[in-house]
Amino acid sequence: MYPDVRPRRLRTTPAMRRLVAETSLEPRHLVLPMFVADGLDAPREIPSMPGVYQHTPDSLPAAATAAVEAGVGGLMLFGVPRAEDKDARGSGGTDPEGVLNRALRDLRAELGDATVLMADTCLDEFTDHGHCGVLGASGEVDNDATLERYAEMAVAQAEAGAHLLGPSGMMDGQVASIRAALDAAGHQDVGQIAYSAKYASAFYGPFRDAVGSSLEGDRRTYQQDPANRREALREVDLDLAEGADLVMVKPAMSYLDVLREVADRSDVPVAAYQISGEYAMITAAAQNGWIDRDAAILESLTSIRRAGADIVLTYWAAEVAGRLT
Ligand code: PBG
Repeated sequence: MYPDVRPRRLRTTPAMRRLVAETSLEPRHLVLPMFVADGLDAPREIPSMPGVYQHTPDSLPAAATAAVEAGVGGLMLFGVPRAEDKDARGSGGTDPEGVLNRALRDLRAELGDATVLMADTCLDEFTDHGHCGVLGASGEVDNDATLERYAEMAVAQAEAGAHLLGPSGMMDGQVASIRAALDAAGHQDVGQIAYSAKYASAFYGPFRDAVGSSLEGDRRTYQQDPANRREALREVDLDLAEGADLVMVKPAMSYLDVLREVADRSDVPVAAYQISGEYAMITAAAQNGWIDRDAAILESLTSIRRAGADIVLTYWAAEVAGRLT
């Protein structure tokens, strides 16, 4: 009549549950994405991401320092140039005086090696058409011409002080071309956290507000089709062969199956990016009183770790790191 096996015994008290938890979340697992914008008088809250700010170059260092003091594992920086500084080639991304490169220099000077400083190595924030690369004659994104721009951008970011570069444009061969350019410029120790399996996702919507993207249309000729799983594994294998130091799956929550498979086959650390739309959904539901915000955040991050992520990029990194310590 009675059950022979009682899994509930291991759930009886908080101490028991803590003892047997298979997955943990520590501040070092969390990386904070940050936005730095030119031409603002004061930090500006991103309307579709309540609680996330576009920083000014002046407000960024204190916020970054606070995150590092809270214990985050690293910072991932995105630049938001003024509209008038955007052009077809994304010149602001390679200009040492562009907003992102200036911010990297300041943060490296401020923080030294106290954290891992990462930079988005992609042109979309800097192009007037909003695509992640340069356009060819018929308006398509020209893969190989874009690789040359990424190589220049990578060297500029390494020179500005980034420890890790995050090529997020999904161009074929981007990891190899960046590796070659870094090595030729003497930056052998600057690595890449490659956005290996990056899907063309509707959940990037709020990010495009965050960086003031002028994109019309979509990125489906370079980002992956959400329908595909094997293709992600192929992209990861290619990036590993090209010299990626870490690989990433993005978005996180709708792609946990992909994340698990990538984690199972990767010999390098695996990251997952809990993106803007994931942040916005939980925030909006919580603001309506429909879910318990803090519990939902921890559950979402734990599920991403359980699916195999060593590292999670999340806009809650500093907050959660603070809560965990
Ligand atoms: C491209 C880039 C994007 C994000 C990170 N890097 C946007 C895109 O591909 O459209 C999205 C991050 C997020 O949504 O939080 N530079």
